[in-house]
Amino acid sequence: MNKRIVSALSSAILIAFFSISCSTAPEKPVVDGKIILTPKPGPSPRINGTRVFGVRPGSPFLFKIPATGTKPINYEVVNLPEGLSCDPATGMITGSLVKPGEYRTTIRATNSIGRAEREFRIVCGDELALTPHMGWNSWYVWENHVTDSIMRAAADAMVSSGMIDHGYMYINIDDCWSVKPGAKDSSLIGEARNSAGMVNSNKRFPDMKGMTDYIHSLGLKAGIYTSPGELTCAGHVAAYKFEEQDVARFAEWGYDFLKYDWCSYSKVGNKDVLEDLQRPYLLISSILKKQKRDIILNLCQYGMGDVWKWGKQVGGNSWRTAGDLGGSFEGIGTALFRDGFDVYSRDSLHLYAGPGGWNDPDYLLIGYLSNWKGQTVPTPLTPNEQYTHVSLWSLVAAPLIFSGDITRLDEFTLSLLTNDEIIDVDQDPLGKPGYRVSKTGDTEVWIRILEDGSKAVGLFNRGEKETEVTALWDDLGLTGKQKVRDLWRQEDQGNYSDRYTASVPEHGVVMLRLWPVN
Ligand code: GLA
Repeated sequence: MNKRIVSALSSAILIAFFSISCSTAPEKPVVDGKIILTPKPGPSPRINGTRVFGVRPGSPFLFKIPATGTKPINYEVVNLPEGLSCDPATGMITGSLVKPGEYRTTIRATNSIGRAEREFRIVCGDELALTPHMGWNSWYVWENHVTDSIMRAAADAMVSSGMIDHGYMYINIDDCWSVKPGAKDSSLIGEARNSAGMVNSNKRFPDMKGMTDYIHSLGLKAGIYTSPGELTCAGHVAAYKFEEQDVARFAEWGYDFLKYDWCSYSKVGNKDVLEDLQRPYLLISSILKKQKRDIILNLCQYGMGDVWKWGKQVGGNSWRTAGDLGGSFEGIGTALFRDGFDVYSRDSLHLYAGPGGWNDPDYLLIGYLSNWKGQTVPTPLTPNEQYTHVSLWSLVAAPLIFSGDITRLDEFTLSLLTNDEIIDVDQDPLGKPGYRVSKTGDTEVWIRILEDGSKAVGLFNRGEKETEVTALWDDLGLTGKQKVRDLWRQEDQGNYSDRYTASVPEHGVVMLRLWPVN
């Protein structure tokens, strides 16, 4: 047989195989054996990401309108309150608001092909993080060798990959930016603090302010990490007894986000005593509130003391609900099902999160990750498991923080991160997290109630074989005819009266959105 025919035949077999195991739509592109369901953004403008944004009175305002479509796009905001202005060429809204209140604006994005228009609510008051955070974090790919240039490259990649146009906005440095006492590596040693007791960065970060200025200049926000103990989890200088100085330093450097770990605080407090668990977070949030800029607080204490029940009261905007999802590289798949599905349904986590405070099951572990053995390798999750990962995160209203190599995004990973209809579920302004409504053997049906009266529904198959999963209107609390749309494929499936059944591949998902038909 001639070579061309053999290769055509093997591609056909490959496509047929993946069509059977992953999808009912055979025409989807397959890249490296992975089916890409997300359609590419069209040429006309589409406004994406959050529809509601919180800011405190007097704080610097920065929001870049996320919009896809052929560039250049002209951006306009109708009814923008006094104190704010929008750059028509970049879509960056800047300034500051004096008067608390809710401002209903309309964003318009226009290009040579068409125009998109969407409501955007700006809420000026005490509450930040009105929808789950979206961004990138350095930990799972760069771990303890992160540098200033890695962070700048990540910010550049957020723009060049187009992720910024889908609503991603935070570029967050994790552990290992401060001095490490006793380190052999000369780039990590030096004075831990300045004469005023403010924490210093290590030599890998020669100019923190310059770096955050750069991140901001792209329309993005910057995040930093520390711990309430003397040392961070990786043994770097942390905030114990210098909380005021360190937060002042973060504000001076221009940070917008703080991840506050627990590490080494066990030497100070008892993790079995609720008051001890809460103390460091109450302290840090009270200091953050005194700053002249908005800094989101992410609690990272792995779910101790049922943190979801009090994370918001101690000032958290999100709280990790379990240990590290990728603590063991090979164990990411197991952790996904355990810390995602099981923790969330066992403890009814949806009851505790909402605008201003979100459950955080850890980062999106897709694309290229560190294997903790000095190499950066593709995620061990299968394509189906990756669809499951992103779907579950958006159903439970989790922060969408990607922690793979953003400078090395393959087409499949990018398609997982940039499906605007999936992101719309995650960012729904009602802010009601989803929950499981039924479990039959290895299959589960999850629902999330959305602001426009529609419902997002996930049909999950945790088993090893493809199987049919049925969503019953009775279980979903629905009556009457519903219009069903497949969100990954962005395709209407028709109207259904009392149930919807789909074939779901092993460890996979079908994500739907249901609207009542009159
Ligand atoms: C803990 C956290 C991780 C990461 C590391 C850094 O393990 O849970 O997310 O921040 O510390 O050392």
